[in-house]
Amino acid sequence: MLEHGPEGERILVLDFGSQYTQLIARRMREAGVYCEIYPCDAGLDKIRSFGARGIILSGSPFSVHQKGAPGLPKGFFELGLPVLGVCYGMQIITKALGGRVARSSKREYGSALLKISDKGGLFEGLSDVENVWMSHGDRIESPPPGFVTLATTDNSPVAAMRSADKPVYALQFHPEVVHTPNGKIILSNFAKKICGCSGSWNMRSFLATEADRIRETVGEDRVILGISGGVDSTVCAAIVHEAIGDRLTCLFIDNGLMRKDEAKRVLENFRKKLHIKVRGRDASAVFLRALKGVKDPERKRKIIGAKFVQVFQDEARKIGGVKWLAQGTLYPDVIESVSFRGPSAVIKSHHNVGGLPKVMKLKLLEPLRELFKDEVRALGAEMGLDDDLIHRQPFPGPGLAIRIIGEVTAKRLAVLREADDIVVGEIKAAGLYREVWQSFAVLLPVRSVGVMGDERTYENAVAVRAVTSRDGMTADWARLPDELLARIANRIINEVDGVNRVVYDISSKPPGTIEWE
Ligand code: XMP
Repeated sequence: MLEHGPEGERILVLDFGSQYTQLIARRMREAGVYCEIYPCDAGLDKIRSFGARGIILSGSPFSVHQKGAPGLPKGFFELGLPVLGVCYGMQIITKALGGRVARSSKREYGSALLKISDKGGLFEGLSDVENVWMSHGDRIESPPPGFVTLATTDNSPVAAMRSADKPVYALQFHPEVVHTPNGKIILSNFAKKICGCSGSWNMRSFLATEADRIRETVGEDRVILGISGGVDSTVCAAIVHEAIGDRLTCLFIDNGLMRKDEAKRVLENFRKKLHIKVRGRDASAVFLRALKGVKDPERKRKIIGAKFVQVFQDEARKIGGVKWLAQGTLYPDVIESVSFRGPSAVIKSHHNVGGLPKVMKLKLLEPLRELFKDEVRALGAEMGLDDDLIHRQPFPGPGLAIRIIGEVTAKRLAVLREADDIVVGEIKAAGLYREVWQSFAVLLPVRSVGVMGDERTYENAVAVRAVTSRDGMTADWARLPDELLARIANRIINEVDGVNRVVYDISSKPPGTIEWE
């Protein structure tokens, strides 16, 4: 099987549950070195079969002294590979090799000044003193026999260490976070100078390898793929198409819950710009009927998810001879979560419409399952996809149904579409579309009194929501310029029939959520 990373140049991160684990993999990939994450209990065989040039041990919410604290896989050091321990990773190396880890009830959290005494190898290119980010309780009291101290901070007498005769390194601080400004140099040094990687992995090499891999996997079979117009399914379609051409058929189910003109635009894009075969099905009436009288948001989601599976299957059957279902699953959704990882993985799961692969009895093709979102965008750019396709804001699967509070009707959909179109249009015109994570309108189940000319009105209220965020897990309300908000409000009230009041949502997440339902 073809593998990413030239000549097996790959680094493995063993995840002990730190919230920063993914960042280690991202920094590595930014350095041009392919990197994956395995749970810390993956076992030696699985680790060996990955074929890494080096292994990074992540941080953890645990203390090595705690009962049930995760340890190194049995026989770990017999692998003979270069190792870099980060924070907890440093502490388990110390414990395993006979050093002393001091218990501490006080956490050291925040910036610290790292004084480097040995600038060879890991710290090459750094200054004598560097800002680093600490987030730990325990600290190393004495390194294992045969280890030398490479750097110190005021609070950590051993802030970095290495074995004198083996390529085993460890850091008390977190090189993967932005608060350690030169941390990426340290990680890159580990991969390149210590593990001997060249750093030549990029989206172009990914594309070549993945297209070959798709061809090899699929053979002469046919593939279907459900597209939504979003970045993931579009890039997924493009790469499968690049690999197998017209043996890919895309399916676009218009659930009637998309934004103004969006369904039409998606089809046009695929047919005229991307030249990818796509079958469109307008199922808006089916969805609307199923949603009649439904007010509860979770029921709306379930109904929409179930109808989608049903309609999709219906259409797929009409294509015939298909053996594979392609999906734009991304890496954050497939990283095996370590059981003690925080609640973030759980919160996200309810968002997945899911269910398709299980019921369809098709083999699953997931060409993006090794990529992070920003890499998917870069891959799209590499394949020449338009900027507006690549940088589309995320849009929830249940669409406008969860932005109409209460019952979804054709009339309310029409009102929301117009209001939403104004919000997005104005944000784009102000050049802020890419700076905000999501921006949209919400139709409230509230009517309020207004005046229009000499008459009193009693009409709907619309909430405008615009948030900044890195990943949708946390978010802050966007500080949009007053004039922009004024223009949006004015236009909605004047141009959208049935709306006489606009409010701006200034809640952050948490405790709020991005969507209103
Ligand atoms: P919340 O509202 O939970 O949203 O802060 C976080 C992100 O998830 C999107 N979202 C969904 N996406 N199906 C989806 O595909 C859903 O049911 C769903 N609910 C929320 C939301 O737009 C935001 O990007």
